[in-house]
Amino acid sequence: MALDIVIMAAGKGTRMKSRLPKVLHKLAGRPLLHHVLDSAAALGEARTIVITGHGADEVEQSIAGRGAICVRQMPQLGTGHAVQQVVPQLHDEDGITLILNGDVPLIEAATMRALVEACAGNRLALLTIVLDDATGYGRILRSGDAQGGRVLGIVEHKDATPRQREIREVYTGMMAAPTGLLKRWVMALDNQNAQGEYYLTDIVEMAVTQDVTVVATHAHNETEVLGVNSPLQLADLERRLQRRRAEALMEAGVRLADPGRFDLRGTLQAGQDVEIDVGCVFEGQVTLGDEARIGAHCVIRDAVIEAGAVIHPFTHIDGARVGPGALVGPYARLRPGAELGPEVHIGNFVEVKNSTLAKGAKANHLAYLGDATVGERVNYGAGSITANYDGANKHRTVIGNDVHVGSNCLLVAPVTIGDGGTLGGGSTISRDTPAGQLTVARARQVSLAGWKRPVKAPKKA
Ligand code: UD1
Ligand code: MG
Repeated sequence: MALDIVIMAAGKGTRMKSRLPKVLHKLAGRPLLHHVLDSAAALGEARTIVITGHGADEVEQSIAGRGAICVRQMPQLGTGHAVQQVVPQLHDEDGITLILNGDVPLIEAATMRALVEACAGNRLALLTIVLDDATGYGRILRSGDAQGGRVLGIVEHKDATPRQREIREVYTGMMAAPTGLLKRWVMALDNQNAQGEYYLTDIVEMAVTQDVTVVATHAHNETEVLGVNSPLQLADLERRLQRRRAEALMEAGVRLADPGRFDLRGTLQAGQDVEIDVGCVFEGQVTLGDEARIGAHCVIRDAVIEAGAVIHPFTHIDGARVGPGALVGPYARLRPGAELGPEVHIGNFVEVKNSTLAKGAKANHLAYLGDATVGERVNYGAGSITANYDGANKHRTVIGNDVHVGSNCLLVAPVTIGDGGTLGGGSTISRDTPAGQLTVARARQVSLAGWKRPVKAPKKA
């Protein structure tokens, strides 16, 4: 029996007050719609159809290559009208169609599966939840007041009587229906209601009239059915998701100083006895080795921090590897291709890009290393930089083992500094230097004994 998954994503999202289509707003660094597609993919073999409309070009571009079929709904005349647009795409009359919302990002695969099972190919299965405040939602009407009664229909908030508005069981916007029946039901919808829209929810009454059983499956938790309609709701969902991620990490032994001040926008793999202080943001794929310590307010993306390394506060790391026992920061910046060996020290206001630093090398203050290969135990002085870019091409700087680079040196690449050499402070080095020697490349200091400082002519009265 074929499963078709329809994701509704054509709505405007007026309350976001944004130029960006609502389903492209980001939760944990990924567009809302991508979260839904990921969960849908967990159901295995299924065709996925996304209904686009508002901002269709942008939405379709964002999910290109993800294997979903996009169907446009222009104009957007309601959720029932949206499903009417995909009717020609629903090929298997005997199959099941699962309807999801592009703006309800945290729906769990297990819940979707339960919905599909409840449908079983011959029943209409609705995902419902009981809320303390049901304002705005479609209410589940049942025979008798109790929740045990048979489902008779859904009434939208705007169409509900004051009595119906007291019902707290609501439709979450997700359902699974027998495909053949769904097709016929949606084509029979009208728009005689408070909003003049074609309500998908009106098919419930049709099912009841035709003696098709309607079942309500309860969501596991509130978070997985929460929709995003406003910046506030988006932020609320973000905190809920981050809290879950923080708790999962803490259960695995990671010590977060405060699970409420932690953000993971990708994946984080952490060893034993890892400590993370407040306000850190992790993006992409980050690995933290055993006993790694991350100070407050660091932003770390696509990086490997090896065992025992310490990242001091306010450090920015992107596309880099930090070796075991290395010390980085505070206020350091590691850019793509920075590879720090064991026990390397990178201090405040030091920027490293596309450079390898071998074991024990140090750049402790105010420095730049770009396109450089730095040997073991090198000491790279304050204010020194590699001039790696000639305006058109990047060139490499090679610094041998045990080199001492004085303060404020300018290494004009391509250039090689021989092992054990010392560069005098303030040198501009544009030619290779020999091993083991002191190289100074700056104007000699002179003192002029007879020199007189100019004096101002006295002002005339
Ligand atoms: C809908 C349900 C309501 C339920 C609520 C849960 C209907 C009539 N009502 O109401 O019972 O409690 O969701 O959140 O279905 N969309 C389109 N095309 C349209 C209109 C909407 O693709 O023409 C999409 C939206 O982008 C959104 C989803 O459908 O993803 C729901 O639309 P929305 O306008 O938010 O419906 P609600 O009024 O919230
Ligand atoms: Mg809504």
